[in-house]
Amino acid sequence: MGGVDQPQPWWRDAVVYQIYPRSFADGNGDGVGDLSGVQRHLDHLCELGADTLWLSPVYRSPMADAGYDISDHTGIDPVFGDLAEFDALLSAAHERGLRVLMDFVPNHTSDQHPWFVESRSSRENPKRDWYVWRDEPNNWRAALGAGSAWTWDEHTGQYYLHLFLPEQPDLNWRNPEVVDAMHGVLRFWLDRGVDGFRIDVAHCVGKDPAFADDQRCAAGAPLSDFNDQPHSHEVLRGIRKLVDSYPGDRVLVGEVNIRSTARVAEYYGAGDELHMSFNFPPLDAPWDPTVFRMCVREVERELGAMAAWPTWVLSNHDNERHRTRYGGSMRRAKAAAVMLLTLRGTPFLFQGEELGLEDATVAGDDRVDPGGRDGARAPVPWLAAAPHGWDGARPWLPFPPDAAELSAESAAGNAGSPLHLYRRLIAERGRSPALRRGDWEELDTSPEVFAYSRRCDGDERVTVINFADRVVDVALDGRWRVLVASDREGEGEPYSGAVLPEQALLLQPDRS
Ligand code: NOJ
Repeated sequence: MGGVDQPQPWWRDAVVYQIYPRSFADGNGDGVGDLSGVQRHLDHLCELGADTLWLSPVYRSPMADAGYDISDHTGIDPVFGDLAEFDALLSAAHERGLRVLMDFVPNHTSDQHPWFVESRSSRENPKRDWYVWRDEPNNWRAALGAGSAWTWDEHTGQYYLHLFLPEQPDLNWRNPEVVDAMHGVLRFWLDRGVDGFRIDVAHCVGKDPAFADDQRCAAGAPLSDFNDQPHSHEVLRGIRKLVDSYPGDRVLVGEVNIRSTARVAEYYGAGDELHMSFNFPPLDAPWDPTVFRMCVREVERELGAMAAWPTWVLSNHDNERHRTRYGGSMRRAKAAAVMLLTLRGTPFLFQGEELGLEDATVAGDDRVDPGGRDGARAPVPWLAAAPHGWDGARPWLPFPPDAAELSAESAAGNAGSPLHLYRRLIAERGRSPALRRGDWEELDTSPEVFAYSRRCDGDERVTVINFADRVVDVALDGRWRVLVASDREGEGEPYSGAVLPEQALLLQPDRS
């Protein structure tokens, strides 16, 4: 583990904030969030203490999958703004000391991308082989409820592969021209000054060269849930080499959406693939100490052995928000935040979780996403009074519940809000080498409690999370003081040895 004085790459100390631009903030009043909206609210991130933002896709797109279907990798979709606004946002972020990660989508493009338009124009087209064409489909299934991963192209009499929607044909990374073209895309954004990339479904790019049927697809699972081929690693090594050739420690964080931490660990390679990988078991975890204990132990075992740096995420744009997953309980959502921000690794926050937002109810004609993920993508309420800072056209999705009370404006004025809890926790991370880079060690307490210590040189912190809905006594060796309490009860006081129902505490040694 890195000591206090040992330099470590910036991203190990980072707190990353995911911006889903369609729902973050609307700068031009058309009801859809955009780049100028993001720029307007950068100070929200700074006040929170986040130092890195990851921008979900803003590229030109027909929006079959909300921007993850890209038709121009070097242009901004007009709904979000233009390149000049992107550059302005990047400078404004950098001026504030915020780093910016772009979303890079290597597995597929839009079917409207000029590359695919050419590829499907004839079997002889030079770009035919840029995508995956076959005479016969196999049994692979697409995600997002799209059924078969193969779509028949009447004009050229073959099937093309898409692990997601038919509007998202898969690129063929075995073709060196595709590699060159996609490396060119990375260079375009690196040259503009972005600090790295979040790589969409990084585990999907390599495909079984035999195109063999898979039993798991026969059982109904989409291939993207488990695809894990050696070729993906080769592609990632190429991307890493390119990114490493740029100055300034640019970073790659990959979405490796397979639910085995051991397999995820392999995507760090020998320090020559991803710098960090998402690890999603905690994102599926219910409010249950046994499940969290297992998730965290597994990360420490699998990644610790490889000196690979962990990441932690409880919410994102593809899943129910964690408050909703925990039955809508604000107490639980706040206690989970204490865990998220005190584990060993880089935390990724999803916009609005610092406000304690729940998923919106999106019904009938309001539904937009073919994958049913609208609830987590609801607009962020900035102001208490409707329309909550979204002046102009009606927002593209309804607001989450309690938008007035949970708005950023109300939260800022309420010391008990989750916003202030996140701010306090992030500030404590900044002050404590133990929290940023210390060892992690589980403490043996009671079955309803998950407790651990973090230590670095002389610095030490302990986190105690009570999952039960009753008070639990948790005896600790030595004397401790409550630095942060998820509900503020007891904050600043000596630790009493009792943890309130569904309360989480961050403790420091009491030397008074
Ligand atoms: C993962 C992204 O997070 C999700 O939103 C998208 O639908 C798929 N990849 C396909 O790009």
